[in-house]
Amino acid sequence: MTNSETKATLSFSDGSPALEMPIYKGSIGPDVIDIRKLYGSTGMFTYDPGFMSTAACNSSITYIDGDKGELLYRGYPIEQLAVNGGDFLETCYLLLNGELPNADQKKEFVATVTNHTMVHEQMQFFFRGFRRDAHPMSVLVGTVGALASFYHDSLDINDPHHREVSAIRLIAKMPTLVAMAYKYSIGQPFVYPRNDLSYSANFMHMMFSTPCEPYKTNEVLVRALDRILILHADHEQNASTSTVRLAGSSGANPFACIAAGIACLWGPAHGGANEAALSMLEEIGSVDNIPEFIAQVKDKNSGVKLMGFGHRVYKNYDPRAKLMRETCYEVLQELGLQDDPLFKLAMALEKIALEDEYFVSRKLYPNVDFYSGIVQRALGIPTALFTGIFALARTVGWIAQWKEMISDPEQKIGRPRQLFVGSAKRDVPAIDKR
Ligand code: SDX
Repeated sequence: MTNSETKATLSFSDGSPALEMPIYKGSIGPDVIDIRKLYGSTGMFTYDPGFMSTAACNSSITYIDGDKGELLYRGYPIEQLAVNGGDFLETCYLLLNGELPNADQKKEFVATVTNHTMVHEQMQFFFRGFRRDAHPMSVLVGTVGALASFYHDSLDINDPHHREVSAIRLIAKMPTLVAMAYKYSIGQPFVYPRNDLSYSANFMHMMFSTPCEPYKTNEVLVRALDRILILHADHEQNASTSTVRLAGSSGANPFACIAAGIACLWGPAHGGANEAALSMLEEIGSVDNIPEFIAQVKDKNSGVKLMGFGHRVYKNYDPRAKLMRETCYEVLQELGLQDDPLFKLAMALEKIALEDEYFVSRKLYPNVDFYSGIVQRALGIPTALFTGIFALARTVGWIAQWKEMISDPEQKIGRPRQLFVGSAKRDVPAIDKR
């Protein structure tokens, strides 16, 4: 971050003294105006609901150019990482450490994560308290938060080693907990992780194997899942990452912060959109019904949105959506489902929407969630678990951002203010005067 030679000057039409504020430049992307002295100098706050024009921090992890439809993890384009940048654990290493691992670093990192995939045997009793049909995200919020009760040896957030151990534990145990939530929901026994399998193969094994017969993973499907995890790994200061940072700014332990991020991701406007997008496609049913559905979306009173479309930052095609569509096609091909009606419906809906003025004028394009439901369904993942897979993938992004925040000398507890529009001070009337 460097000082710009240009300053920002805020002047007032009533002749109040103008305020000069510094402008900082990053390495790429928009400059920022440092408004930290605004309240002290003017007695006024900025007003920015939804933080449309607010940079809450400086970061070197992920960069998004919404106009170009560009996404970089530590400078590397997502298209390169997801196609030939190695596997998800290499992306995890990159997000956590800033560089891709060499062969020795990768070997050590994989071994460390692999040897932390089991959860404490008593964790299973937390699951017993849930209904079998509990939404997996409610189970994950509860069990990830509960992890803190087992790791008193790594909760000192000011100890870099504790931060590192917590990061590894969370990345390693999320697949185990997500798979346990699935097994619990279908009444099958939990499957222990296997150290001889890759991260994604191990997850598929914990999800779909049973004690009754050997389970063989399909390498094409494992690679597809691994790519889905890479595409969801991090995404700048989105709602759930900002939640993790805000929770972490109070000094809360990393397990509590990640549980807060999971809770936020659950919302249909955020991570819950993949589940909602698939339900939307199933509700539309056929290409013939698309015009009627689009008419509903355009009718503001309907409250109907085209789920998996639109984005706060991308005003161009979400690069992850293109890669997700390619992955979707590869998986359906591998499974002989290339004529999957929902995939064909999704592509028809995308084509129609991208030619429709309503969406074009609002720069609404498919986002990461539009195709992810179709490919996850093809992989055998139940709809209710789609957002759990998103949380599994995003854990590395959340924890990388949390680590960056904790070690940022500028970080303080996050405490926004407000524009108060309620009742001014008044006296409590006697009860017979109310
Ligand atoms: C994720 O932030 C991230 O990085 C998130 C994420 C990540 O990796 O962490 O990328 C993951 O959350 C992707 C987004 C998944 N959500 C959905 O697909 C749900 C559907 N999308 C919308 O709810 C919406 O597009 C948002 C929430 C994603 C973005 O909302 P904004 O930026 O607040 O934009 P807006 O709601 O103000 O919309 C601008 C206009 C409005 O119309 P007008 O008032 O101008 O007439 O576009 C319309 C909106 O009504 N609009 C849509 C729409 N999205 C926006 N209309 C129909 N369908 C949609 N999907």
